Amino acid sequence: MVTIVDARSDHHGALEKACAVLRSGHPVAIPTETVYGLAGDIHAEHAIRRIFEIKGRPASNPLICHVSSIEMACEYVHFDDLALSLANAFWPGPLTLVLPRKMRGAALELASAGLSTLAVRIPQGFSRELIECFGRGLAAPSANISGRVSPTSAVHVQEGLGQRVGLIVDGGTCGIGVESTVVEISECVCALLRPGGLDVSMLERMIGRSIETRSDHTVLKSPGMMASHYAPRARVRLDALEVFPDEALLTFGACSVAGAEAAKSVQNLSVKGSLEEAAARLFDAMLVADRTGATTIAVVPIPLEGLGLAINDRLRRSAAPRIS
Ligand code: TXA
Ligand code: MG
Repeated sequence: MVTIVDARSDHHGALEKACAVLRSGHPVAIPTETVYGLAGDIHAEHAIRRIFEIKGRPASNPLICHVSSIEMACEYVHFDDLALSLANAFWPGPLTLVLPRKMRGAALELASAGLSTLAVRIPQGFSRELIECFGRGLAAPSANISGRVSPTSAVHVQEGLGQRVGLIVDGGTCGIGVESTVVEISECVCALLRPGGLDVSMLERMIGRSIETRSDHTVLKSPGMMASHYAPRARVRLDALEVFPDEALLTFGACSVAGAEAAKSVQNLSVKGSLEEAAARLFDAMLVADRTGATTIAVVPIPLEGLGLAINDRLRRSAAPRIS
């Protein structure tokens, strides 16, 4: 049976219960500012194995180690000057740094998929407090079945993972709604592995130059970036300028779409044309559209700037050809 504890009405109780589950070597689903994570003690081999099992995630796809301070991160990875300045500027927040791994051990080998690097980030809010309370790093991928849409509410987690997880901490809807921006830093050079909740132009402004994007070797460097991902049941059709009656429509801003009145459903990701609002609503809107039974989710063009990079990345992956 899955227990759901509400961190908004019983903050202290939620921290205690989550800590107890983590100490017993089991994973727990927790809210972060980006998406819900399936968190486990990064030093507990059993917990890390369970995370991969629950998600059906390939062992070759490494996890992010969540920490509560830069000092704690330093136990796990080596920081150069660039990494340190990015951490100081953007943590806690939606930025993940892939850095040379320091710490060894069976659980860490599993979590990092045997790579010489480890991804680290300090999340905001409840999850950070939980790590502080727990005293060690938490491995936490998004709390969804591998390849499916990421959860931005406790209900999404429950619907997606069902009885596979014992405890879900409900912290309300995630404010950012897309996963963290992932960058790899090596010898003071920064490469973008995944656009996400931190606008890349803010990173570029901070480091004073543009960031290289790893597209081709991303598949090798970051196995989670494989094409088909974030997949709802329905097919996804991008850059739609018209919509058909068996389709559900995701629109944006003041865009008018021919056929909208006959569509299965119409959801505007942001009437006022805010990419932040659209990012926060994206995954829920995909899940709602999927529930209408539409064969296809048609999505209007979304501007390719700011958080639009992350939105377009997730949409492209959800539209990619599927293996099964
Ligand atoms: O916002 C987020 O990042 C959320 C919340 C829960 O923190 N977590 C999340 O984790 O999205 P996950 O596992 O769904 O995505 C992590 C991404 C994957 O694409 C993975 O391949 C990549 O980060 N990654 C992790 N460790 C890596 C490493 N050492 N080198 C390259 N890529 C890495
Ligand atoms: Mg994920």
